[in-house]
Amino acid sequence: MRALLMSAVLMTCAAAQAEPAREGDRLYRENCARCHGARADGDTPIARVVKPPPPDLRRTSLNDAQIREIVTQGGEGVGRSPIMPNWGFQLSSKEIDAVVAYVTGLREGVGGVKSAARSQ
Ligand code: HEC
Repeated sequence: MRALLMSAVLMTCAAAQAEPAREGDRLYRENCARCHGARADGDTPIARVVKPPPPDLRRTSLNDAQIREIVTQGGEGVGRSPIMPNWGFQLSSKEIDAVVAYVTGLREGVGGVKSAARSQ
């Protein structure tokens, strides 16, 4: 019984470690995909009507700090389109960390695009 309990605790710890990446993926799908696309390629109905359109995040030329800045302050906060929401009001700093890591991962082509495509 005790051994069974221990292995349940260990399994829970392993799941907790995998959490940040999965959290970034979930936050992206819940908050960003409707504008930037499930594959982050900017191919959404909204992109066909707003100017400038939500860009393809896989090909962004922004660096990590600039991505964090526009996500935290919104488009308006950095002198760009107010259509890009200000996530600093809506997400916790931990959630911002997770979603920014997810987006920078897409740009570098490490796993993110694959995981976004898989969730289709
Ligand atoms: C309501 C639509 C909308 C939603 C939802 C949205 N965005 Fe955006 N986003 C935009 C638009 C429009 C722009 C382009 C702003 C501009 O160029 O002036 C943009 C720009 C960006 C950029 C700058 C990319 C570049 O190469 O310049 C990043 C990064 C970004 N969004 C990340 C996110 C993340 C992360 C989320 C979710 C937490 C998100 N966006 C949710 C509309 C949206």
